[in-house]
Amino acid sequence: MTDAKTAAAGHPGLAGGPIYLDYNATTPVDPQVVDAAVPYLATHFGNPSSAHGYAARPRRAVAGAREAVAALIGAAPGEIVFTAGGSEADTLAIRGAVLARGAPAGAQVITQPTEHPAVLEACAALARLHGTQVTCLPVGGDGRVDPASLAAAITPATVLVSVMAANSETGVLQPVRELAAVAREHGVLFHTDAAQAAGKMGIDVHGLGVDLLTIVGHKMYAPKGIGALYVRAGVPLEPLVYGGGQERGLRAGTENVALAVALGQAARLAAAELAAGGPQRLRELRDLLHRRLDEQLPGLVNLNGHPQLRLPGTLNVSITGVPGGQLLAAAPGVAAATGSACHAGSTEPSPVLLAMGHGKDRAASALRLTVGRWTTRKQVQAAATQIAAAARSLLAGKDQNSPQPATPWPADLPAPGKRLTAVTQNADPRAWLFSYGTLQNPQVQIATFGRRLAGHPDALPGYALSAIEITDPGVIAASGRARHPIITATGDDNDRVDGAVYDVTPAELEAADRYEAGQYRRVWVRLASGTDAWAYINGQA
Ligand SMILES: Cc1ncc(COP(=O)(O)O)c(C=O)c1O
Repeated sequence: MTDAKTAAAGHPGLAGGPIYLDYNATTPVDPQVVDAAVPYLATHFGNPSSAHGYAARPRRAVAGAREAVAALIGAAPGEIVFTAGGSEADTLAIRGAVLARGAPAGAQVITQPTEHPAVLEACAALARLHGTQVTCLPVGGDGRVDPASLAAAITPATVLVSVMAANSETGVLQPVRELAAVAREHGVLFHTDAAQAAGKMGIDVHGLGVDLLTIVGHKMYAPKGIGALYVRAGVPLEPLVYGGGQERGLRAGTENVALAVALGQAARLAAAELAAGGPQRLRELRDLLHRRLDEQLPGLVNLNGHPQLRLPGTLNVSITGVPGGQLLAAAPGVAAATGSACHAGSTEPSPVLLAMGHGKDRAASALRLTVGRWTTRKQVQAAATQIAAAARSLLAGKDQNSPQPATPWPADLPAPGKRLTAVTQNADPRAWLFSYGTLQNPQVQIATFGRRLAGHPDALPGYALSAIEITDPGVIAASGRARHPIITATGDDNDRVDGAVYDVTPAELEAADRYEAGQYRRVWVRLASGTDAWAYINGQA
């Protein structure tokens, strides 16, 4: 049903189209979900609240769907409120919790910057309309919130904490259990938007200790326009839609029977897929995609987000020097995203990656590649080849009209394009050779290129000297080492780090230019020994 055979059999909506690597934006509706829902459009039309016989089937169907959704997350059926999607569930949770407490002007809500706009805008609306104080916790370079920062931010006014289970762009998993424990310790409600997590990983609301949890149908092979909010029994919420008392009075309106049934069926399929090892299949596909990209674009593929603590089917990478939008336009055989689909149409770099401390270039180069139920190994390999070919051709095009560095050029130095000719050669240059373009380490914001002077004591204040793994087999073969020293820093001007400087050969300069044109600032460094060298610097140097 949800194994490699299902994947290979394909989905009618994907037949003949580009390779679909955008499952985090939306999923094709599973044909089994369609089969379950159609009778409630075609035949069983009754209003579940009616007193006559036409109501019985729809009423039973909605109840069954509620049970299936509840079972997927370890909840009781009475704790599931059907909504018209994720944005509505988020709004019901956040607005509902704050307004139900009363005195919203004196209340505080705590969230974090990589949330979906549905959460951030619901918080912003509370601030705008009711004067609620909204606190945004920082995230680390891996995209995660530190539970200690939550503990420090909670005040007697805090009503609600809202932190997502998994990020839609990077797949990064938040430490929900730890965060919810901090909230509970302080008597504060905890909401998690599990739009991207539900169905892709096991979720148990009691194990997590959450009070409110958002589920979205179209991220788990059900149609758009249906979602659910788990509301722990006893948690007071102000209704989102007022009216006839459906959905425990929290979301009035005659039930959308067919879509509720669809979500219920999707939840059953998801539970079966989880039990059958579906996440492991996706993880293997994701990692194969990553490996193939790395092999074909050595040293250029930078992983965004936590390497392990992320959704099994999500790969977010920035290819050095290649804007994500241009890359996807040049690879029409692949349907993927540059950031959250909800930001489509905007050319702004991903706010999620900026919040994680990445620079604008890195954020603008982001590609979100997400695999799912119908992805095959063959598709992943073909997609990697197409993406790599598109990246290489964009880099080659860029090469031909390399922009000049923005920094003013010192008059006594060779002009850009005129290579430095007098360089010091070490007795055994290969001993210190390290590669240009090996910036796949997500922490590396600043790099120089070339040869480190053997035993040279020079230091550039403000930069860290660390080791970096080289992936280019040619460089490893030439130097006999996979780990080489490189200057790195986090890009934060306040960081105190020490470093070293490197001597650079003309050939290496050319190579560095080829890889990094337009992104790196070329600076002249004079070593204490009197040797001059170019350094290529990227970041806040
Ligand atoms: C994390 C997250 N929350 C909420 C939503 C919104 O869901 P919907 O499109 O059903 O309103 C999305 C959809 O992109 C999402 O990824």
